[in-house]
Amino acid sequence: METKLLATDTPAQLAAAVEAAAAALAAGEPVALPTETVYGLAADALRPDAVVKIFAAKERPFFDPLIVHLPDREWLDRLVIIADESRALVEALIARFWPGPLTLVLPRRALVPDLVTAGLDTVAVRLPAHPVFRAVLARLGMPLAAPSANRFGRISPTTAAHVRSELDGRIPLIVDGGATEHGLESTIVRIESSGLQILRAGPITPGQLMLACRENLIETGAPTAERNFRQIVATLEQSPALRPQAPGQLQSHYAPRTPLRLLLDVGQPVSISEVAGQPSAQRVGLLGWSRVGGEDYSRFQQVEWLSETQDLREAAATLFAKMRRLDEAGLDLILAVPVPEHGLGIAIMDRLRKAAAEHE
Ligand code: TXA
Ligand code: MG
Repeated sequence: METKLLATDTPAQLAAAVEAAAAALAAGEPVALPTETVYGLAADALRPDAVVKIFAAKERPFFDPLIVHLPDREWLDRLVIIADESRALVEALIARFWPGPLTLVLPRRALVPDLVTAGLDTVAVRLPAHPVFRAVLARLGMPLAAPSANRFGRISPTTAAHVRSELDGRIPLIVDGGATEHGLESTIVRIESSGLQILRAGPITPGQLMLACRENLIETGAPTAERNFRQIVATLEQSPALRPQAPGQLQSHYAPRTPLRLLLDVGQPVSISEVAGQPSAQRVGLLGWSRVGGEDYSRFQQVEWLSETQDLREAAATLFAKMRRLDEAGLDLILAVPVPEHGLGIAIMDRLRKAAAEHE
């Protein structure tokens, strides 16, 4: 199959690309589209015959459920059931973070195909912010199931070129919307009667979630607000996505093919041969946080800095592209330096741990 790539630089190109994407999706074909997080491989979420092609193109196992992207707010109540005690919290999160990189896991309605949820009684939904993705959703008028547009277990694509290198010849169309804004997959939270649990760290940080919850509880003025807030904080702190996990327990991975090892200390000089114990003949690359003055980096075949100015947003936005560049450099080993683990750094460290765990 020939994979077409359509640009969206001019209004005419954008209109043509949206039209072509909507036509392919309406015909039951999968299409790669930019979102504000990473590129997604989309198909009509209510058509199992279309959704199955996502699994085939990605070689994704059927036990791994997909995120459903909504054309608008009205679709939420058609696809999920919101319990009375969760309603205020859901509304608060939506008002604050949609459209945007927050995915909610909620009990599903029967309309959602089993293939999308992997047979679970919940479904993951979000309302994306990217103008190209939103234009396609509006044109089609149907929700789109879309996992990241990489082959299963590999690094998520943040440019159209990454998508081509993952899925060329396997899908009919890629729409190019430039490099994605956040560079990390959406934050996923499960809504529970006691509050919420973060299932995947992402661009929306635990601090932001906590603030939104507290504001909502103050606004609604419920007499139990104080107790509820403490409960939410407690469930947040117990969220699996925020606890460093033993590598063996990791379910998913974001792995380069080259072995990647995570160093231990933030901002410490890297005495590479000592730390890594690598024979000097080996070709070693460095995925660094930011340059440490006076340190000699000539030992490395290639160095990528996540942010010279120690900006976590820049580090998140460029992490996967830099991991890919190192992966394509023919190295024997990639050493990664940790970033400060607060705010967005929590999600970055989650991805680095998963990439490293793949090679333990
Ligand atoms: O930013 C994103 O979320 C991107 C863009 C394309 O929207 N999508 C994305 O999808 O990262 P994917 O399939 O690569 O990751 C979705 C994750 C999977 O780990 C899956 O297990 C989890 O969401 N998931 C989906 N439905 C779930 C459910 N009902 N309960 C728990 N986890 C769920
Ligand atoms: Mg993925």
